[in-house]
Amino acid sequence: MDITPLDKLLNERRSIRKYKSECPPDEWIRKMILAAMKAPSPSNSQPVRFIRILSPELKDRLLRGMREGEGRLLEAVKNASSPKRLKNWVNTYSRFSEFMFDAPVLFAVGTTMTFLNLAKRLSQAGAMEQGHKRHRDIDIAVGLALHGYLLKGEELGLGSCILTAPLIFIREPEGILGLKGMEIKCFVATGYPDEEPAYIKRKDISEIYRKI
Ligand SMILES: Cc1cc2nc3c(=O)[nH]c(=O)nc-3n(C[C@H](O)[C@H](O)[C@H](O)COP(=O)(O)O)c2cc1C
Repeated sequence: MDITPLDKLLNERRSIRKYKSECPPDEWIRKMILAAMKAPSPSNSQPVRFIRILSPELKDRLLRGMREGEGRLLEAVKNASSPKRLKNWVNTYSRFSEFMFDAPVLFAVGTTMTFLNLAKRLSQAGAMEQGHKRHRDIDIAVGLALHGYLLKGEELGLGSCILTAPLIFIREPEGILGLKGMEIKCFVATGYPDEEPAYIKRKDISEIYRKI
């Protein structure tokens, strides 16, 4: 079967968690954002925002917020059932968070709060229950934008990793970063890869795709 350039990008992209110290050119990062911007979004609302965190002071505040959260959770799990297992989980999430501070490029990725989809309009008018479960379309927009960003990076030879684990620890990251009117959904770390992660097995298509 023919492997197309898109197949190659999809097959070869891995989450990269270790980066060379050299910073990729701004122009490449811009290209990745432009690719993210091509993603479809509900009513073309384009709610996704990429906030690049350059300030060492802000990074430091995030890191401190993360360590505080980690300490808080480690304290809290002592009194929970199966504390050992939960402690291991907290430590694993911490390990899968901290590397973002060593990345040459770090983004907080979030959504603006301004877009009101119909579910939100209806619930604000009292015509629908709050937080209607099946209409969180904005999160889909984030995923689609990120995929464009990741694939463009792969094409340029840059590695990235999406991170939501830090959000378990950091209370009010929007406040720490001074981002008003935005909800942070994840962080994204990017740089020249300094590792070649092994192939990660995917499920069989029969588990993913069926006809009814
Ligand atoms: C929404 C989302 C959140 C993720 N959060 C983290 C994270 O916090 N830390 C991390 O190291 N990887 C994180 N990842 C990366 C996944 O672990 C990774 O995509 C998965 O194991 C498949 O590996 P691959 O990306 O190399 O194909 C996240 C991925 C997604 C899509």
